Amino acid sequence: MPLLLGVASETLAGERRLPVVPDVLKKYQSLGVVLQMQQGAGRPAHYGDDAFAGVSWSADAASVYSGADLVLCVQPPPAESLAAMKPGSVLVGMLQPWADAERVKLLQQKQITAFALELLPRISRAQSMDVLSSQAAVAGYECALIAADHSPKFFPMLTYAAGTIRPAKVLVIGAGVAGLQAIATARRIGAQVEAYDVRPETREQIESLGARFVDTGVAAAGTGGYARELTDEEKARQAERLGKAVAQCDALITTAAIPGKRAPRIITADMVARMKPGAVVVDMAAETGGNVEGTIAGEKTWIGEVLVIGPTHIPSRMPVHASEMLAKNLYNFISPFIKDGTLALDWEDEVMAGSCLTHAGEVRHAGVKAALGL
Ligand code: NAI
Repeated sequence: MPLLLGVASETLAGERRLPVVPDVLKKYQSLGVVLQMQQGAGRPAHYGDDAFAGVSWSADAASVYSGADLVLCVQPPPAESLAAMKPGSVLVGMLQPWADAERVKLLQQKQITAFALELLPRISRAQSMDVLSSQAAVAGYECALIAADHSPKFFPMLTYAAGTIRPAKVLVIGAGVAGLQAIATARRIGAQVEAYDVRPETREQIESLGARFVDTGVAAAGTGGYARELTDEEKARQAERLGKAVAQCDALITTAAIPGKRAPRIITADMVARMKPGAVVVDMAAETGGNVEGTIAGEKTWIGEVLVIGPTHIPSRMPVHASEMLAKNLYNFISPFIKDGTLALDWEDEVMAGSCLTHAGEVRHAGVKAALGL
């Protein structure tokens, strides 16, 4: 029996990506894998069923989950689908490991070997599997376009017969993968960009993109290349020094995050109130609590004459390329363990072991186990 790979339609409202695209399917097939796919699963990302050759089609999700040896997903599948999976089968996707203890318990009880790619160790060898980076790049690009689209001003300098329009000033807070992509995109459209991050090494990265680093004197590098949470005193100093740059910009894009924690609140309502009339705020962290006081996830809110946007499902705004990037990441993660049409997991592999959420009835990730009290 060949290894049966299952892909069902995503069920979360607003999710349009899928975890396998036609070019990547061919690579799985060359490893002897057969894809069982729910009809129409690719349609929200504009991949019609006829783009996938050699697939065994299912009319419903239940038969995909109950038959597959290996299930790929974008978002965590609903409980009834997880409950339908075979004991010992493997699940790979963005499983939001910190979000829901009941889901982790279900994976544990059902003896599912679940890999949550948010847990992927961020080492050089794992870069080609890094879903957080690929999807953050999509999100950063999109946030710059959302800001430009909602601004009542041109982003580039524009010379016309009666004079010259000055370029817009864009401030980006958080210069990780998403923030750097937002900076690069805003620069390409012609804006004047300033940016800020608590990790000091971002100064050089920001400057290499032609933007100016805003120095607040607050440095908070944490472990694993990430930032740590700020102390109250550091938060106050940061707010004071950032206030001026915030008040002067035409568009503010915030992308700051701390892994596994609520997004840091960096911009107060008072700072927003002091922004220019017509300024736009795009809070990329809206779904995880927001970097800006007053952001509502999924909504556009006016605070005085400042428009505050809390976009959700951002990578789903460009599902063709977001799916392609994601599908390649998932393939790069799992394909080294597919040999002669069977799955042979290697627990000595630090990338695989480090991404494992549950296996053989146990919660394998110590950090998640502690955080969820399991
Ligand atoms: P992230 O999404 O966790 O955070 C986004 C940014 O917010 C980070 O740059 C962080 O420093 C910043 N931030 C947090 N609190 C802040 C605050 N109070 N004020 C201002 N900024 C704040 O991070 P992301 O983008 O996923 O990655 C961060 C870093 O991880 C990368 O720049 C890189 O150094 C490393 N990385 C390594 C990879 C690898 O080697 N495989 C892959 C991707 C990232």
